[in-house]
Amino acid sequence: MAELGVVMNGVTGRMGYRQHLVRSVLAINAEGGVVLADGSKVRLRPVLVGRSEAKLKELAAKHDVADWTTDLDAALADPANTIYFDAQITQARVEATKKAIAAGKHVYCEKPTAETSAEALELAATAEAAGVKNGVVQDKLFLPGLLKLKRLIDGGFFGRILSIRGEFGYWVFEGDWQAAQRPSWNYRAEDGGGIVLDMFPHWAYVLENLFGSVTSVYAHVTTHIPERWDERGQAYRASADDAAYAVFELDGGAVAQINSSWAVRVNRDELVEFQVDGTHGSAVAGLRDCRVQHRSATPKPVWNPDLPATARFRDGWQEVPDNAEFDNGFKVQWERFVRHVADDEPFPYTLRSGARGVLLAELGLKSAAEGRRMAVSS
Ligand SMILES: NC(=O)c1ccc[n+]([C@@H]2O[C@H](COP(=O)([O-])OP(=O)(O)OC[C@H]3O[C@@H](n4cnc5c(N)ncnc54)[C@H](O)[C@@H]3O)[C@@H](O)[C@H]2O)c1
Repeated sequence: MAELGVVMNGVTGRMGYRQHLVRSVLAINAEGGVVLADGSKVRLRPVLVGRSEAKLKELAAKHDVADWTTDLDAALADPANTIYFDAQITQARVEATKKAIAAGKHVYCEKPTAETSAEALELAATAEAAGVKNGVVQDKLFLPGLLKLKRLIDGGFFGRILSIRGEFGYWVFEGDWQAAQRPSWNYRAEDGGGIVLDMFPHWAYVLENLFGSVTSVYAHVTTHIPERWDERGQAYRASADDAAYAVFELDGGAVAQINSSWAVRVNRDELVEFQVDGTHGSAVAGLRDCRVQHRSATPKPVWNPDLPATARFRDGWQEVPDNAEFDNGFKVQWERFVRHVADDEPFPYTLRSGARGVLLAELGLKSAAEGRRMAVSS
């Protein structure tokens, strides 16, 4: 059976470990590999790379992974390793990925692909010039809730789409009286943190793939919680933004308004929800579920503050059925990237599309700093 060596850098991190190593690469192998067009299967041989020998050794032993090293160059020098994957902190991504490209590896990266759009575009151009296959994680596209939304769009449910309202966020503990549930570098601008750089790349590909590319952005960006406590219990200044209130105009005329916040308490069904309103119907999609209301079932509320609400508005929505089995979104995208490498199957989630996400984040921050709407050219 065919086997691809996959150098996995950053596997001791939250995303690298749980979603990419355990839920994707090891899960794919547990199923016998990725099925190619001719029906054959290709297995993945992970080579764990990181900075801490102790952590790598422990991870390798726990999951029965034979290959691990703290020497990235050595892993890249092995011709049996075909793919390089990067889930390190954002700041470390460009240098390591460029090394992998120079070594002739196909490269697959977490988002954001770089801290600035200039670097992200250069990284994309470097991969293209070297002729290696390249990709960026765009996991939200493969979530059941968004797949159902896409199905509704493709089925013409909405009529003309007017607006999208996205609400993303939850309370991230400051770290003093309860430990924070996200890494502290996320809250330091000097370490590549910030909710705009983290989330706008997601919003860019979600909007572009479902509704139309972004033509302008206006954002109000702030740091609501200025002091936090890190993994060691040390107080630090949160220099990065932790909330962004943004309006995106889209090609085709729809407007998307998305709030992203790590300083909000959840009163929703899911940690992210998108409400889409169209002339013929509306939908609210989360990570898993999606509810709809057709124009024919739309109530006619009349504004009268003197009377209590007469209807339970949320009861008038209908659940969209699964009608399919949904696998882990990260795994589905890994399988597609492997088929892109092994089978030349088309893969639109390229480093160049990742660079559009970084550009949107950069323009969002610029909009906030200058207090004006920024045009986004594609
Ligand atoms: N696709 C998604 O939904 C999603 C979600 C969260 C994070 N991410 C992205 O994944 C990447 C990793 O995020 P995470 O939450 O797993 O972070 P994390 O802090 O948990 O992990 C970071 C990893 O980078 C490694 N690293 C390399 N150089 C480092 C340095 N100088 N300092 C600290 N760590 C260093 C760490 O050892 C660790 O393996 C980020 O780029 C982030 O934007 C993507």
